[in-house]
Amino acid sequence: MWMVIHGLIASAIGIAVGLAINWFPESASTQAGPIDRLYDILIWVSVPVFVTVTIIVLFSVQNFRMRPGEEQLDGPPIHGNTRLEVIWTAIPAIILVVLCGYAWVVLRDIEEAQAGEMRVNVVGQQFAWTFEYPQADGEPVRSKHLYLPKDQPVRFSVRAIDVIHDFWVPAFRMKIDAVPGIETGYRITPNRLGTYPVVCAELCGLGHAVMRATTRVVEPAAFERWIAQQKAPAQASEDGEVDGKALFTDGNGAATACGACHTLADAATSSATGPDLDEVLADKDAAYIEREIVDPNAEITPGFQTGIMPPNYGDTLSSDELEALVTYLGEVAGK
Ligand code: CUA
Repeated sequence: MWMVIHGLIASAIGIAVGLAINWFPESASTQAGPIDRLYDILIWVSVPVFVTVTIIVLFSVQNFRMRPGEEQLDGPPIHGNTRLEVIWTAIPAIILVVLCGYAWVVLRDIEEAQAGEMRVNVVGQQFAWTFEYPQADGEPVRSKHLYLPKDQPVRFSVRAIDVIHDFWVPAFRMKIDAVPGIETGYRITPNRLGTYPVVCAELCGLGHAVMRATTRVVEPAAFERWIAQQKAPAQASEDGEVDGKALFTDGNGAATACGACHTLADAATSSATGPDLDEVLADKDAAYIEREIVDPNAEITPGFQTGIMPPNYGDTLSSDELEALVTYLGEVAGK
């Protein structure tokens, strides 16, 4: 009776506290509801299991402990209890099978293909995300931030260029590794307007902590306007000058934006993954700046490590782009 009464009280308190704590950030996808519910049910089931084990241990310590004068005594021999062993094997087995079955149903439901899915390619690269929106009429639209129309089912196709990253939007509750050489992915349907963080959830190098972006869930009409805007400047630049500043802050799809890792006052960037360019490029000439871009390991700023900056900018930037970037940095760094 002592165990049952204390167990019931402790379970009630534990479940109440477990459900009252706000474990998760805001939910912004149709997948979040079933996942959060699964978590609540796991609390309902696991708290009584924990309480039962703890209560039995406390009860045994209290009642069967060694008392003064019993140091030399041994306990009575025990030859097992078949009925008890069957019960304590069967009950946990049933609980596990039921919970696994339920979790499997939840997983199947949230991964189910939806009609009219929009595809978004997610590319992870040290230390930034690129989001590609394939277009029926030509080049995909590329963005450093994730824009999604509300209530539109999305299928993410996730890739990595260099090392393993992990594409995670906590508000959507889904995450998956981005692995070089293979394509992974998941589905979500955003169902709440707002701005939510995108996080890299796999330790991928020194800049891992800053490998973040923003998800904006917007009205479908606003999304269409955004796509149209993104297409416009790309067409303009084909016959015009390359904009060094835009290249610095946005990258070009293949080349990660410099501003994702470097501070530069003129571009209003502030990351400290790489050296502060206002400091290190202030009095440098064009040849030096160009060498630092295409061969970043030739000379390392004290306090930083070799191999952090991608060594392939010489390949991922066209000669026009490289020139525009060098010109831009020469004009503004340290000014
Ligand atoms: Cu990419 Cu951590």
